[in-house]
Amino acid sequence: MKYVRDIPFKEFVDSHHKAVDEDLAELRRTNEDADVPLIFTETEEILGLLTGLTHPSRILEIGTAHGYSSLFFAKKLPYAHITTIERNPVMVEAAKAEFASRKEGERIDFRVGDASEILNELVSELSDADETEKFDFVFIDAAKSHYREFFEAAEKICTKDALIACDNILLKGWIVEAEGRDAKRHRTSIKYMKQFLEYLQQRDDLEVSILTGADGLAIIRFINEK
Ligand SMILES: C[S@@+](CC[C@H](N)C(=O)[O-])C[C@H]1O[C@@H](n2cnc3c(N)ncnc32)[C@H](O)[C@@H]1O
Repeated sequence: MKYVRDIPFKEFVDSHHKAVDEDLAELRRTNEDADVPLIFTETEEILGLLTGLTHPSRILEIGTAHGYSSLFFAKKLPYAHITTIERNPVMVEAAKAEFASRKEGERIDFRVGDASEILNELVSELSDADETEKFDFVFIDAAKSHYREFFEAAEKICTKDALIACDNILLKGWIVEAEGRDAKRHRTSIKYMKQFLEYLQQRDDLEVSILTGADGLAIIRFINEK
């Protein structure tokens, strides 16, 4: 069986990708040239479709890197506010510069630190908040071993109609077949990602869609009242 390792059809999908604007296209090129992690074009398109249909006004993102996906949300949804979390100091400096040099940066609340701690702060900040102050779209794209923890914190601070999208759930196909040296190096992430997906499956109050495009994206919504 052929797995996702080299992202099938990537060139084809990339060749059909339309960037939101030339500034974002250039940011994608510079991120890709410098090997900075960022969402695949296919993931970007799914996120664009979902947010275009649901019109979120408060987006929470876990995992900023150089700020590509935060700026994508901010440009795509000109009325939305984005809170994004990053802990790596090198990434933080780069993202700060990207946000500071664009008007969209004014709608981005950049929280620096470990996502577990920042999420705890956000849970405290929003504990008495009403639905209008909570997040209506969450994008989880950080430490792959911590998705369950991120998800459980995020669900406390999002609206009942929110969507939560989790990137890289296939882990280059290792989630199905973990072979070779690279898979061995990532065995902890693989183990925890499998447990996270099983946990989602066991929850009767969630509708979970597993998409296998790019590196896999899980899209979750709440069926029952939270
Ligand atoms: C895949 S990159 C994010 C890419 C970004 N969403 C984009 O598409 O432009 C993941 C980022 O999450 C950060 N990260 C990983 N674990 C984290 C944690 N526990 N707290 C905060 N940031 C974390 C990493 O430093 C890395 O920059």
